[in-house]
Amino acid sequence: MAKTLVLYYSATNTTKNIAEQIAQQLNADIAEIHPAQPYTDADLNWHDDQSRTSIEQHEHNSRVDIKDDLPDISGYDNIVIGHPIWWAIPPRMISTVIDRLDLNGKNLALFATSGGTSYDRSQNYVERTVNENDYDTKVNQGAILNDPRQIDGWIDSLNFK
Ligand SMILES: Cc1cc2nc3c(=O)[nH]c(=O)nc-3n(C[C@H](O)[C@H](O)[C@H](O)COP(=O)(O)O)c2cc1C
Repeated sequence: MAKTLVLYYSATNTTKNIAEQIAQQLNADIAEIHPAQPYTDADLNWHDDQSRTSIEQHEHNSRVDIKDDLPDISGYDNIVIGHPIWWAIPPRMISTVIDRLDLNGKNLALFATSGGTSYDRSQNYVERTVNENDYDTKVNQGAILNDPRQIDGWIDSLNFK
């Protein structure tokens, strides 16, 4: 049977809640992504253009270091990555995760929670990062899943093994 891993980052537990429900529905394993340096409330203040997240998210192609605790994904067929939307795209650590995982031959799907921004720019961002790594990876269409009732429809749309 195909094996699925759900990886997520969540600053304030919204994405975590959805990730847990997705993992349950897919009978998947689940693991949290940790930034090397945790974000403080001040770091997360998007009203401050000098806050850590404002600076990181506006710096083109920047990367944010993560804790060295990503699971071994060699035994998984499908990888789901969940994240909040920050300045219309994934937190920069998500690119670091894509760089670090060997996604060759995997089915990849990303979802996010947001205050209203769609997944369009994030999808472009993720596909570009996968291409930059030269992975042979099927990237499914990502989605904003703010409401748990959207989970079933999204799962049905995935081209998972
Ligand atoms: C630094 C920062 C930037 C954000 N930028 C956006 C944005 O561009 N569009 C949007 O709809 N929501 C934005 N949000 C809201 C989050 O995407 C939303 O609250 C999300 O559900 C938080 O998920 P979490 O609790 O898993 O961290 C931003 C939040 C933060 C902290």
